[in-house]
Amino acid sequence: MKAVVKENAGVGAVLKDVEMPILNEGEVLIKIKAAAICGTDQHIYVWNSWAQNNSISLPAILGHECSAEVVEVGPGVKNLKVGDYVACDTHIPCGECYQCRNGQQHICQNLKLFGVHTNGCFAEYSKIPAVCAVKIPKSIHPNVGAVLEPLGTAVRANVEVQSSGKNIAVIGCGPIGLMAVSAAKAFGAAGIFAVDINDYRLGIAKKLGATEVINSSQVRSGDKLVELTDGTGVDAFIDASGNTSAILDGFKGLRKGGKAALIGLPSKPLEIDLGSQVVFKETTIIGIHGRRMFETWTVMSNLLDKGLLNIDPVITHVLKLEEFDKGFDIARKGEGGKVILVP
Ligand SMILES: NC(=O)c1ccc[n+]([C@@H]2O[C@H](COP(=O)([O-])OP(=O)(O)OC[C@H]3O[C@@H](n4cnc5c(N)ncnc54)[C@H](O)[C@@H]3O)[C@@H](O)[C@H]2O)c1
Ligand SMILES: [Zn+2]
Ligand SMILES: [Zn+2]
Repeated sequence: MKAVVKENAGVGAVLKDVEMPILNEGEVLIKIKAAAICGTDQHIYVWNSWAQNNSISLPAILGHECSAEVVEVGPGVKNLKVGDYVACDTHIPCGECYQCRNGQQHICQNLKLFGVHTNGCFAEYSKIPAVCAVKIPKSIHPNVGAVLEPLGTAVRANVEVQSSGKNIAVIGCGPIGLMAVSAAKAFGAAGIFAVDINDYRLGIAKKLGATEVINSSQVRSGDKLVELTDGTGVDAFIDASGNTSAILDGFKGLRKGGKAALIGLPSKPLEIDLGSQVVFKETTIIGIHGRRMFETWTVMSNLLDKGLLNIDPVITHVLKLEEFDKGFDIARKGEGGKVILVP
């Protein structure tokens, strides 16, 4: 089969013919319908310090976001059958640790990541533990199915901050932030304030239902959020920028008793005045690592199936798998939203 393989510690990857995966106990073979490029793939593609320090063994097939059809089930698989339409959760839980036994398998102590610590989905076929292949409604287009993994992170943030009827700031309008704007809209947030430094992405946020867009290279977004809420501050902010000064502005724009949902991964430590920004404000800070397995998937599937959540404008490019280099280029330059690769 054809696959995009990261062969060695240089920049880039190659398309080549590789052996079909062989199933072990508890795994399924999936035929990829569509896959999406994520920031994590980008780290591995360019082989930056994050990739070098994350126990990734090469050569490896890139990619972890996909929709697919189950074409073979391995020994012991009971939850799936041939022909099932699935999307994949990247988090591979061990099933045995404290978190796995107490309803938090998405933050398993021995967590492995599909397409990072295993071969991934930028290929015609892949294999994945059956627990990570989630059946989804046929009404969801394969290109949308391919981005359910990052969408789930954005949906989960909105569940955690209970955005219905609230004023929500979404900081950073990359693919995940844009999907957080869509989810806020679907959840019935009253005010949706999208913050970024990129006007193209703010334009997409507007299309997705942002009530205000704020270019934080032109104004102090913290002050602006307070101004837009008549001096109160927003009920919650969702950070999907990973930029430390943008996150600090989020705290400044947050009302007393507000909630901060943190998705973005800063490349350096963040220094914050805990007294004014957390203690006296009684801020609730919620770390978001992916989707709850599987509550988030259920909510997301229901909303998409009933046409209550629209993320079509986030998908800006659909390319053939062979055009992966072009896809990585577009994603790296921030020229698009989500880039889909179709094998
Ligand atoms: N927690 C998780 O489970 C999880 C999963 C995947 C990705 N992530 C992280 O989530 C973040 C978002 O992912 P993405 O794929 O959308 O990334 P992205 O890099 O495409 O988007 C980040 C956005 O933030 C904007 N930004 C940068 N500096 C800013 C500033 N000062 N003010 C406002 N906006 C600013 C950028 O212009 C960009 O649009 C990244 O940090 C990524 O590493 C977290
Ligand atoms: Zn991803
Ligand atoms: Zn575990």
